[in-house]
Amino acid sequence: MHLQFAARSLPDTGALVVGVLADRTLTPGAEELDRQSDGLVGRALAGAGRFSGKREEVLHLVAPVGLAVERVVLVGLGSAGDLDALAWQRIGGTVTAQLNGVGVTAGAVWIDAPADAPARAADAASGFAIGAQLRSYRFDRYRTKEKPEQRPTLTRLAVMTEGQVVDDEALARVEALVEGVYLTRDLVSEPANVLYPESFAERCLALREIGVAVEIVDEGEMQALGMGALLSVGQGSARPSRLVVMQWYGSDSERPPVAFVGKGVTFDTGGISLKPGAGMEDMKWDMAGAGAVVGVMRALAGRKAKANAVGIIGLVENMPSANAMRPGDVVTSMSGQTIEVINTDAEGRLVLADALWYTQQRFKPAALVDLATLTGAIMVALGSHHAGLFASDDVLADRLLAAGKAMAEPLWRMPIGEPYDREIDSDIADMRNVAAHRYGGSAVAAQFLRRFVQDVPWAHLDIAAMAWSKKEQSIAPKGATGYGVRLLDRLVADNYEA
Ligand code: BES
Ligand code: MN
Ligand code: ZN
Repeated sequence: MHLQFAARSLPDTGALVVGVLADRTLTPGAEELDRQSDGLVGRALAGAGRFSGKREEVLHLVAPVGLAVERVVLVGLGSAGDLDALAWQRIGGTVTAQLNGVGVTAGAVWIDAPADAPARAADAASGFAIGAQLRSYRFDRYRTKEKPEQRPTLTRLAVMTEGQVVDDEALARVEALVEGVYLTRDLVSEPANVLYPESFAERCLALREIGVAVEIVDEGEMQALGMGALLSVGQGSARPSRLVVMQWYGSDSERPPVAFVGKGVTFDTGGISLKPGAGMEDMKWDMAGAGAVVGVMRALAGRKAKANAVGIIGLVENMPSANAMRPGDVVTSMSGQTIEVINTDAEGRLVLADALWYTQQRFKPAALVDLATLTGAIMVALGSHHAGLFASDDVLADRLLAAGKAMAEPLWRMPIGEPYDREIDSDIADMRNVAAHRYGGSAVAAQFLRRFVQDVPWAHLDIAAMAWSKKEQSIAPKGATGYGVRLLDRLVADNYEA
């Protein structure tokens, strides 16, 4: 969908969207439209039944007399005091879904940010645009038989403000963020026969076009580096493993980067500790942590962030086969620490152990954040309302919590520490990869990662419940959410940018 910010005008085709505040209070735009159309808005509201201007309520007025547009859409904005950038995102998403649902091809929206609302006009317009784009995402490359009436129709959206308050730079920022989220959603949505370690790595090379340095590390090089933990996970697969290193240096090259590390298990069968069959197809998105890392690198480079950031993703496929790792095998990680693999389904931590170590050795980052669909237990603990945050450093934890709140990608801090550490002591190696019981599974997993982190501020985000949504949301269709991209982009913007 083509997006444009423009000064307010009355379009002569398509749909015009105007806001109505709570209790049927007209915005200036709605009042103006009412004047231009001989009282249409007032009459519509008088006979509109339940529509009262609650946020995201929608009322379509088709073939409005006296106006050139094909339809006017009144959208509820709720109370002015609640209209922040996030509220505008949800309004933008909801409106766009409506326009697509009824077959509108061109839309224009008059943004009215009330004077007493938290979001000023520019933030309101950007918010609306972001929500509109995020909701319009569709992964339809494998649908060959869709009828035209099943497809979304909206191809152009003009977001209009009183005077041109949103400049090209702001438009570029919106687009960079949206493209980052779209890229993550594309990667996460792809089936595992299409997206496997080599093809995933290949897709990362496209970031070179926007100035990201991309390197692909193959199995031979990983062997030489001593990455026995990561390689042990991929050894049962016919698809060779890969590590991808992405660097965006938008600031002084002397400044240590912030590092993002992602779990990229392109399919997780569980290995010899095989998962049950029902629902196993979900494990195609066990690379969502890696997907988010690629997306945030896309977003940062796309908006030419004045920050240094590196993204490292470990890409493996976890399969049972004659070559697969067995329960009880002992592997040596790049750090030199040995791991007794009790359960081959606790594979993500093995991948991250080496990816984290490599990242610290090579980049000496200022902060280290990993993202992983690491445990089913985090879904039990938090549902799909928060990702789990585990951190060695309170400042970094607070920065992440704030960024999550600001971008509606919420986090909830969870514990790590000594008692969890004891649970993974092994009788024959430095550690085992799971505890002897199921309790506190997410914290035990985080504590395992902690053993591979030296003295750098580190946080681990367990996004298993956030990466995929079975339900439609205001700013996301069902499926891959792209969780993490907006959060990390904001973390960088607020804390690591010159
Ligand atoms: N990829 C899974 C975790 C997961 C489960 C992500 C459901 C998304 C949805 C991970 O590799 C895994 O299998 N974890 C095990 C750990 C256990 C063996 C200690 C789990 O959660 O059951
Ligand atoms: Mn697993
Ligand atoms: Zn997994």
